[in-house]
Amino acid sequence: MNLFRALLNPSGGILYHIKGFLYSQNLWLNFNKNLEKLLFAWRKFESPSGGVILIGSSGGYCLSPEWLVQYKEVVIVDPDPVAHKIFKEKYKPTDTNIISSDVKEVFVENGRPCDRSLQAVLSAYPEHDIVFCNIIGQLKFLYPDIRESLWVSFFRDLVESLKPRGFFSFHDRYSSSMRPDVEGYFKNYSTNRLTPEDFVRELYQTSASAITGSIIPRTAEVIDHCTAHFFSEYQAYFLSWQIVPKFYHCVEVVYEPGNKEA
Ligand SMILES: C[S@@+](CC[C@H](N)C(=O)[O-])C[C@H]1O[C@@H](n2cnc3c(N)ncnc32)[C@H](O)[C@@H]1O
Repeated sequence: MNLFRALLNPSGGILYHIKGFLYSQNLWLNFNKNLEKLLFAWRKFESPSGGVILIGSSGGYCLSPEWLVQYKEVVIVDPDPVAHKIFKEKYKPTDTNIISSDVKEVFVENGRPCDRSLQAVLSAYPEHDIVFCNIIGQLKFLYPDIRESLWVSFFRDLVESLKPRGFFSFHDRYSSSMRPDVEGYFKNYSTNRLTPEDFVRELYQTSASAITGSIIPRTAEVIDHCTAHFFSEYQAYFLSWQIVPKFYHCVEVVYEPGNKEA
């Protein structure tokens, strides 16, 4: 990704930093707190240890500092140079060592899904945990020419290869001007039980009156980020993220403990 695109890319860049500065300490707090609970459910240490790789770290606006400083080393992977600066400034006062990975972007090579650069980062840090930080739900918009079926098989293979190490991902499933019905705490749906269509209905329609306090049907568009089939064997948690005052993301969280817990 060239510098211009990195700074203006639809999943991050300058516009995302502006949103982060404006909203991460207010509008995003609820989402960040719920995400933090899941991060701690995945990895909690007695004292700072080990390292973690953050794919699509941006400025770390959604990531819990309390969770992150459990690691002695954090490796950030992001094509946006401003993200690296902001992230490092944020963690300067802590003992956690923040490293910019030599690899700046992963997932695509020659216009097709490819895990070569991701595997290079994993080999460079063989013991580190890995977190996909709200990047997987952006792939459809970053790489509109890649068919969904190619992504589905790419993630099926990637998940298999990451199982021993473990991983954590939070990523968009849907977004809309309607608030998804997961507010307050997270719900745990079995994604196998509901088809994506039923799931959208359940998220956005059944409790419309409870959310809006009216019986006016909610008809706004729901944007599908096409991630429904990437982690379908996993128990998924869903969080509502009010990214700007009138727009919400329905974020899916999945994690795999890996062998470390054994
Ligand atoms: C929605 S933001 C992530 C949010 C962030 N984790 C937070 O805590 O606020 C997505 C990030 O992924 C980065 N990105 C875009 N394409 C990427 C790629 N191919 N590999 C790694 N990161 C990428 C963007 O530059 C952007 O900073």
